[in-house]
Amino acid sequence: MTNRKVGIIGAGAVGATAAYTLAMMGTCNEIVLFDIAEGVAEGKAIDIAQATHYAPQPTIITAATTPADVKDCDIVVITAGVPRKGDMTREDLLMINAKIIKSVTQDVMKYSPNAIIVSVSNPLDVMTYAIHKITGWDSSRIVGMAGALDGSRMAYQIYKKLGYGAGQTGALVIGDHGQNMIPLPHNVHIGDVPAADLLTDEEFQDIIERTKNGGAEIVKHLGTSGYYGPGRAIAHMVEAILNDSKSVISCSVLLNGEYGYSNVTAGVPVVLGKNGVEEILQMTLATKTREKFKTSVESIQEGIAILEKNDFFQ
Ligand code: APR
Repeated sequence: MTNRKVGIIGAGAVGATAAYTLAMMGTCNEIVLFDIAEGVAEGKAIDIAQATHYAPQPTIITAATTPADVKDCDIVVITAGVPRKGDMTREDLLMINAKIIKSVTQDVMKYSPNAIIVSVSNPLDVMTYAIHKITGWDSSRIVGMAGALDGSRMAYQIYKKLGYGAGQTGALVIGDHGQNMIPLPHNVHIGDVPAADLLTDEEFQDIIERTKNGGAEIVKHLGTSGYYGPGRAIAHMVEAILNDSKSVISCSVLLNGEYGYSNVTAGVPVVLGKNGVEEILQMTLATKTREKFKTSVESIQEGIAILEKNDFFQ
């Protein structure tokens, strides 16, 4: 990728942390931030630009004042959205965020027509599906950030149990990016040692539960959701695409027969490279995991059905 230019739409906690992380890694030549809230992109861009003084490589960080300024990006990360408030139902939130995503996506199509989109806004799998339908782009160019974060949360829980192997642990979570996500600690290795040889059934169960509650645990302490983990996970995906590293990362992608499903997005391991999703890797799932995957896909399909019921795609 020639420009190594990344647009980030939504410069809130997650978007700005992704920008900061990318700047500290020296992954991009240029990052442009946009936010609908006045001053947010500008203020964060200035702050991050000043931090780059101590980064390993220079990165140009700018704030866009209009969506048109987020132009000619190689990758656009979409984190725009609103959090759930008191009297909002899940359906209200879904429709509010879907409308935001629609307008933001139409801008991306206009101003960065060759970009790969990394979708982050929640509910993640449904928003990623919406972006596929709105753009009509080749499905390889739209990828949802889910397993990269949930997998890092699972690796953390494995480390907490063992007390060793930090940074040497696999991170495999499939399914939706919500309550029905499927952490697969039995499938990973610590160093090159199979987890199954190091952990008991009880410990595996606990790791699975804690991974699923990984986001909620942070909210319990902070009163707001996490952003370092999500920001770093986004940067990991952006780096794989910009560097064409063909990394295997669990991501929410549009399935076209893989795992037995079509016309739905869900988290599965994929190969990320300069063309976005270059391959969807097919694992053989155990019967129980297949059942869980079905439940997970159905929960995403319910969200998509809400969009359809509200004529979102008309
Ligand atoms: N265009 C651009 N930015 C927008 C728009 C829009 N149409 N609508 C909202 N935003 C901005 C908000 O002004 C806010 O700054 O999106 C930002 C969202 O940031 P936060 O509220 O801080 O939320 P954050 O914690 O960053 O999460 C962002 O990622 O993980 C998901 O569930 C999370 O959907 C949420 C998203």
